[in-house]
Amino acid sequence: MHYEPLLRVLEPHVRSLRGAVLDVGCGMQPYRRWMRDEVVYTGLDREGPLSRPDVVGTVDALPFDDGSFDGLLSTQVFEHVGEPVAALRECARVLRPGGRIVITVPGVWPAHEVPYDYWRFTRYGVERVLADAGFVDSEVAAAGGFWASVGQMVNLEIQRGRFARDLVPLVNVCASWLDRRGASEEMALAWVATATRSEARA
Ligand SMILES: C[S@@+](CC[C@H](N)C(=O)[O-])C[C@H]1O[C@@H](n2cnc3c(N)ncnc32)[C@H](O)[C@@H]1O
Repeated sequence: MHYEPLLRVLEPHVRSLRGAVLDVGCGMQPYRRWMRDEVVYTGLDREGPLSRPDVVGTVDALPFDDGSFDGLLSTQVFEHVGEPVAALRECARVLRPGGRIVITVPGVWPAHEVPYDYWRFTRYGVERVLADAGFVDSEVAAAGGFWASVGQMVNLEIQRGRFARDLVPLVNVCASWLDRRGASEEMALAWVATATRSEARA
């Protein structure tokens, strides 16, 4: 369940990226398949068993000149970054003025990749870190609302073997139905944000 709402909200934003696109913390490059044919894609990550970077590096010191990219994608990375605003400023630096950033961050999720899991974000936290880093016109969308969040936490417990696993699909159906009835989006499994790199440096 966790990925279905995220994929649904994220896909059109990834498909809208153009030109030279940097995927920061690309992991296994799961969203490269959605990039347009004309996109020149570069995936950056640290080396590791779960990453397939074209360029090895970290978001704190991106090995690119100012304004090198038209678009930047970074999915489920900033919760692992000690100084998210500084890292986003570095993203802004390598984007051309007017370039687009697309990021996703978890709202509700247990600690993972411990101890390198530092933050959970609210909608307003995402808007704040983007603004502080020099991005404008941010739009933040919930991927999975209140009931998806509750249902996913229940399912994680089920999958740990504490309850009957047959209940997982039932929980998913109930959570989706409840969210569709207009549940609060102030609690979300993940946030998908887009913004524009301002003309001025932050
Ligand atoms: C949860 S995985 C997400 C991978 C991929 N973006 C995805 O959505 O499937 C987090 C990724 O962020 C990378 N990462 C964590 N801290 C980083 C940093 N400071 N600089 C660059 N990548 C980082 C990790 O190596 C890992 O590949």
